Amino acid sequence: MIERCRLFVRTIRRRLPDSEFFYAFKCNDLPFIANTVCHHGFHADVAGLFELQLALQIGCKRIVFNSPGKTDDELTLAVTHSQRVIIIIDNFDEIDRLKTLCTTMLPETPVTVGLRLAVGRRTDDAWHKFGFELDDVPEAIARISESPSLVWRGLHFHSSWNKTPLKYYQTLQTVGRFMERHLPQRIRLGMEFVDIGGGFYPENQAVIHHCEDKGILADMMARRHGGRKHINRMLDHDPHAFLVTEVDPLETFAETIAEAMDTHIRPLAPNAAVFMEPGRFIVAHSTAVLLRVLAVKQDSVIVDGGINMMGDYKFSEYAFAPVINLRRPSAALHSCTVYGPLCDPSDLWGYSHYGDPLQRGDAVAVLHQGAYTYSTAWRFIKAIPAYIAFSGDTVSMIKPAETFEDRYGLRFRD
Ligand SMILES: Cc1ncc(COP(=O)(O)O)c(C=O)c1O
Repeated sequence: MIERCRLFVRTIRRRLPDSEFFYAFKCNDLPFIANTVCHHGFHADVAGLFELQLALQIGCKRIVFNSPGKTDDELTLAVTHSQRVIIIIDNFDEIDRLKTLCTTMLPETPVTVGLRLAVGRRTDDAWHKFGFELDDVPEAIARISESPSLVWRGLHFHSSWNKTPLKYYQTLQTVGRFMERHLPQRIRLGMEFVDIGGGFYPENQAVIHHCEDKGILADMMARRHGGRKHINRMLDHDPHAFLVTEVDPLETFAETIAEAMDTHIRPLAPNAAVFMEPGRFIVAHSTAVLLRVLAVKQDSVIVDGGINMMGDYKFSEYAFAPVINLRRPSAALHSCTVYGPLCDPSDLWGYSHYGDPLQRGDAVAVLHQGAYTYSTAWRFIKAIPAYIAFSGDTVSMIKPAETFEDRYGLRFRD
């Protein structure tokens, strides 16, 4: 993980020397992980009260606080620490609420704020929940400047799952063109950052054939004619195969974003640095799930941990992760559905595993499970297991397993 942090900082700074990095706590807020990342070149990007408290406790000197619905408790804590926290405002009501709050709190250090933009997503309704339309930005800046406690310093946007840097380029271009036409020079010169969010897709992620064209076709035909196995044979389709997602190298992202900044932003706002909020890229490979086989069936096994610890049905629907027989590992991939123990048919880790066929008692590892797992886990039937850290020769317990009391607020009486 430390190597990942260094790689990101080194690669981006080579082309963008004034860039700053804010690790997205929502991706994995396990304190050990957040603490490690924040001691290796990253500030914090938080989206809720606990994350903000954690970032403050870890000692982060710069924190970006960005979410579409911040509560009064959250805003109060952010204003209390206004020398460390930048608030990215999502909507006009939030401007009004923040102004009212500042009137009573009278912060010694003015609160630095930015505006979240809805750009780049006009056609995608699911993302319309976030931020201001570009046309509203001049009005939003004017309203912010009415408060002596608030200073506007930048713009923010975010897009997810970027396998190429195209969206960053396009959005910076759109923002630059808008600024040229609608923001006077006096305001542009006061701009200190453009926060381009996270969304840097990590390499070595894979999807199952299931959700590719051939797999989708096989599903449609099986629904119409019955017999998925027969249809698979007809289409010469292997339902257990997977495809590694192609991603541009990070150097290409750095190069393209630098070009967009030089062409579209810097001539207008020369004081604006680039902020980035990567999550997935930094921690995706950091974590493996360790499981044990409880039972062996005809072409499947049942292991002792479920996807509640991930909070996602991704392995039954689209994602492939290497599942490895740790007792007898090999590069051979076996068709065998690895089910979890939950009362849910979609509770499974994959349709295949590496190594010799699994037997009862075998230990199994599911690799690359560091992103959106700890932070998104479901409270469902089974406990969230302990987290153990391996660092050099040291093995340490960094978070004990969930207990009866954690879940129910009650002590268990025999
Ligand atoms: C505003 C914001 N910043 C950063 C991130 C982190 O994204 P990723 O983990 O894909 O890098 C997210 C994820 O949803 C986000 O919403």
